[in-house]
Amino acid sequence: MNIQNNSNNFDCIIIGAGAAGLFAAYSAGTRGKKVLVVDHANKIGKKILMSGGGRCNFTNYYIEHDRYLSKNPHFFKSALAQFTQWNLLDLVTEHGLEHYEKELGQLFCQHKSSDFLDFLKALIQPLDVEIRTSTSVTKIQKNKLFNLTLSVNDKTYSTSSSSLIVATGGLSIPTMGATGFGYEVAKQFGHPLLPTRAGLVPFTWNNKDKERLSALSGTAIPSVISIHNQSFSHQILFTHRGLSGPAVLQISNYWNEGESLDIDFLPEHRLSQWLADQSSQKSLGTVLKLLWPNKFVQIWFDQFDLTMQVAQLSNAQLHELDQMVHHWVFKPGGTEGYRTAEVTLGGVDCDEVSSKTLESKKQANLYFVGEVLDVTGHLGGFNFQWAFSSGFVAGQNC
Ligand code: FDA
Repeated sequence: MNIQNNSNNFDCIIIGAGAAGLFAAYSAGTRGKKVLVVDHANKIGKKILMSGGGRCNFTNYYIEHDRYLSKNPHFFKSALAQFTQWNLLDLVTEHGLEHYEKELGQLFCQHKSSDFLDFLKALIQPLDVEIRTSTSVTKIQKNKLFNLTLSVNDKTYSTSSSSLIVATGGLSIPTMGATGFGYEVAKQFGHPLLPTRAGLVPFTWNNKDKERLSALSGTAIPSVISIHNQSFSHQILFTHRGLSGPAVLQISNYWNEGESLDIDFLPEHRLSQWLADQSSQKSLGTVLKLLWPNKFVQIWFDQFDLTMQVAQLSNAQLHELDQMVHHWVFKPGGTEGYRTAEVTLGGVDCDEVSSKTLESKKQANLYFVGEVLDVTGHLGGFNFQWAFSSGFVAGQNC
């Protein structure tokens, strides 16, 4: 990337070269703006490269409002309407980026995540956009312009611009360059912050469950997991550390420290009724293995004599089996935290940011986009769509 050790002026400086920052650069660049993007990481778009299991789930056919969490449940609607998944798909198609729908409307790159980053680079390439990596922002001052002190290789220099877009993301995966810098900028300009916590993150065992259940590591069971009237239906994956898999990541956005979750390992049938339809002469273990892997049956039903015939089960035992299977109350020890979380919940309070332009209500010409804001999507391409929509809107207004 182009690095210049001199002072210069830009129409717009963007801090953070992730999904939101790069899209804001594209959007502002198409309006003829002279744009500088700075990132302290040595490469741009690191999270794009590691996303979607290496194939970047870049959007979803069904971008619906109930797929987003924010203290202000209306804030994200305008940006999502101003730049929709269909607008993104038009660009993707125009640039010949091969992609496919995996499931539930989730759109992935056909080959690899780097194809999506190449697509973003191709969007920006013809525009007056300069990107400086390995560059830190050490100071921001607002006079008539925003004056930024930038630092690269221990040398500092100053630069200025009429507008500033903060696109520094959240706290998840610090090893990929995540910092709380955006929150510091928000504070500097008088913005209230909402408490942050890890989202789309695996749960860890409490001590009691760990002893008994870590042996199930590697087992995946289609389940429904619920809390606070929210339910997600998908695989639950047992790991050495706790529970993971799509349904677990989804529900983690709704879970608070100390709460318990309700898990149904057989959502399609009532176990007691299903057992009544089986041959009563068969052993309990034999029929349960028709439903679940052997390892799960051995460990989950360890207090039952699996050699007993189905016909011998008492009503009390059938009731107990139903409870164990349809209402397992799981109290996580915690989550794996920002180390593995896909997103950060909370952040810059949206009430002090214009939903129409993403400009700060506290400081003219200052914008916040992407994950730094208190907007978090479900798993499935919703977070990247928010990054692109919010980046686009700020780029149109800066
Ligand atoms: P993002 O974090 O992408 O970018 C912020 C940028 O700011 C980074 O480049 C960082 O280096 C830079 N920065 C931070 N502090 C700075 C500082 N002090 N100075 C200068 N630069 C600074 N979502 C989705 O929709 N589909 C998916 O498939 C996935 N998959 C996925 C996998 C994994 C492993 C993770 C961790 C996350 C996902 N996500 C996802 C979530 C998605 O990656 C996330 O929501 C977006 O990247 C957010 O985009 P932003 O541009 O806001 O932040």
